[in-house]
Amino acid sequence: MAIRITFRPEKNQPPIVQTSLVQPLTSGADSIQEPQRGRKVIHNAAENKDIAEILAELDALVGLTTVKRLINEIQAYIEIQKRRTREKLTAEPLVLHMIFRGNPGTGKTTVARLIGKLFREMEVLQKGHIIECERADLVGEYIGHTAQKTRDQVKKALGGVLFIDEAYSLARGGEKDFGKEAIDALVKAMEDHKNELILILAGYKHEMEWFLQTNPGLRSRFPIHIDFPDYTIDELLSIGDSMLKARQYEFTPEARNAFRFMLQGLLNSHPYAGNARLVRNMVEKTIRKQAVRLYQKSSSSREELIRILPCDLSLEEEDLK
Ligand SMILES: Nc1ncnc2c1ncn2[C@@H]1O[C@H](COP(=O)(O)OP(=O)(O)OP(=O)(O)O)[C@@H](O)[C@H]1O
Ligand SMILES: [Mg+2]
Repeated sequence: MAIRITFRPEKNQPPIVQTSLVQPLTSGADSIQEPQRGRKVIHNAAENKDIAEILAELDALVGLTTVKRLINEIQAYIEIQKRRTREKLTAEPLVLHMIFRGNPGTGKTTVARLIGKLFREMEVLQKGHIIECERADLVGEYIGHTAQKTRDQVKKALGGVLFIDEAYSLARGGEKDFGKEAIDALVKAMEDHKNELILILAGYKHEMEWFLQTNPGLRSRFPIHIDFPDYTIDELLSIGDSMLKARQYEFTPEARNAFRFMLQGLLNSHPYAGNARLVRNMVEKTIRKQAVRLYQKSSSSREELIRILPCDLSLEEEDLK
């Protein structure tokens, strides 16, 4: 019998500890990874600073309150299990595979990347890099091809995070589809490399729910579920501000209002409007438009180079009315 921890982001509640007959990926105190060869053994101030820096980077992301709280919880939980191991106390098995549920552009890849870095600093992962893949990277065209393709991706991800976007598409074709073979190969990889890899399956909320229901064996292997809600208009606006700031640009108050107006319009028409990637595209287009405007003059002041005016926004004037 194994003990599993289930985090419950949706209920704003602490993790629950439950016993389970399901064989976990790791079992017993020995599953807490020992520091990798060549890495720091003792937690020193420098390492804690690195962890603090990564958590600050996470904190700097706009919104995502529940996600941030949950990751802080996971970080504290891992740290305490490690301290318990050092004191020769029984520690919970570290099963850290995750399901990310959310629409496109809601920050899933960004957060997965930070988790990789965090876990590397915490010595849960040796490298902490992320390999992102989707169905086409895993599923082959003939018998045996899929297992090989999946193994190749797993190999690349060892020591880091294997992030599978739109993971539900692996179950799309049913029993006869090669997607099933990919799922089996992933489950095997989770057993074979239980301390060397964190698997994150990502996708739209409802599809992921369906996917886990159709694969009951999978659900028990992913104790951490994180929901990424769509961003609100104010959050998208703040994301736009921070993207411009990072590039040393700034909206004038009028341009910021116009940008809000555009976001409002998109929210009503776009299927995934609460989407930071859309904001990034808009910001990048806006910067190009500003460049074209400034290029028409032979010189520009520092102020002019920084300022984004309403006319730089990428929709036509009449769309902004
Ligand atoms: N909370 C946030 N604060 C600031 N920038 C953000 C935030 N969330 C996402 N972004 C930015 O938005 C862009 C898209 O984010 P990301 O790639 O993480 O989304 P995703 O959920 O993985 O999308 P997809 O499902 O389309 O792959 C990135 O440029 C990222 O830096
Ligand atoms: Mg992504």
